[in-house]
Amino acid sequence: MATVTLNHISKSFGENTVLKDFNETFRDGEFITLLGPSGCGKTTMLRIIAGFEKPTGGELYIDDRLVSGGKTFVPPEKRGIGMVFQSYAVWPHMNVFDNVAYPLTIKKTARTEIQSSVERVLGIVHLSQYAGRFPNQLSGGQQQRVALARALVAAPKLLLLDEPLSNLDAKLRESMRFEIKEIQRELGITVVYVTHDQTEAMAMSDRIFLINRGVVQQCGTPQEIYNSPANQFVADFLGKVDFFKGEARDGQIVFPEMNNQKIPYNGPRTGKVEVAIRPENLFFTENGMLTGTLETQYYLGDVDDCRVRVGDRLVRVIVSGYEFKNLKNGQQISIGIRDFMVFEDNGLLEEMLQIQT
Ligand SMILES: Nc1ncnc2c1ncn2[C@@H]1O[C@H](COP(=O)(O)OP(=O)(O)OP(=O)(O)O)[C@@H](O)[C@H]1O
Ligand SMILES: [Mg+2]
Repeated sequence: MATVTLNHISKSFGENTVLKDFNETFRDGEFITLLGPSGCGKTTMLRIIAGFEKPTGGELYIDDRLVSGGKTFVPPEKRGIGMVFQSYAVWPHMNVFDNVAYPLTIKKTARTEIQSSVERVLGIVHLSQYAGRFPNQLSGGQQQRVALARALVAAPKLLLLDEPLSNLDAKLRESMRFEIKEIQRELGITVVYVTHDQTEAMAMSDRIFLINRGVVQQCGTPQEIYNSPANQFVADFLGKVDFFKGEARDGQIVFPEMNNQKIPYNGPRTGKVEVAIRPENLFFTENGMLTGTLETQYYLGDVDDCRVRVGDRLVRVIVSGYEFKNLKNGQQISIGIRDFMVFEDNGLLEEMLQIQT
């Protein structure tokens, strides 16, 4: 078991500050995910924890031991950490057994102990029958599991995984997610997992740290982050969302872009606001809150993905197929709202749009 404490950790490469003032504690046995867009600093954070990178400022503790900070720097091999890199590498000239045994071999561990440790982790990743095979005789997913077994063999108390499923197809990714989660539970280890895949983060994590441009935007359980996002960036990054400019007053929000249609609102904000609505929180009903013209419907099997024109805006509505089989494009339709989120109009949305274009 291990805790990781990041005390005002920052990192710059020359002029470029990529991590700004990280203050977090990853607790014993937690499954932590660092989530965020490409270039936000996830790999850099993992490399700092592993000891492949020195922070520019701050201190890093593993359990109560200072491993980075001031004049102290404990090298990677002395930190007791297992790691699978973003571009995982297994040795092509070694069979599965020798690949997995490697970290123990270089430590000159006794042969009998190597034998039993390797057999144990190969069992955990369901590769026992492949011990004699070479990497070119394995599928991508099997090779990925070899890399994972190699990271586990020295019984690390802390496991760092950098997009370990990135090279797998959708089905294998999904099954490996559960396998990694099972392994973590079984061994009771602390895992810091990096991904930019929000579904993966939601499915696996005890807590997610959502990072943008080197700054933690929010940390919390998947439910907290999804249901109570701290700002527009978080709302937008997790799941699907549409933003609407509105004016909050007198117990309602008025939408100028949508023919001044209104929805009831009794929350704390007044004046200019940005309302975030998830399309799955909308439904079609007789007397809804917004009215528009059904423009398109896409059949996706489990759900239908629709667009409704309301004034100058297209509103996305995701409903279960049976709800609206008989609807025709061009017809007037009324939209009910189960839930929505209200943010201050602080210019963050414009900033996000600029980055996307
Ligand atoms: N050794 C380095 N020298 C200079 N800049 C670096 C170095 N390593 C990383 N960076 C920069 O730091 C920033 C963060 O990089 P990092 O690899 O941590 O991103 P990431 O969140 O892992 O992205 P991805 O999802 O694409 O893997 C990037 O702008 C990157 O160009
Ligand atoms: Mg990375």
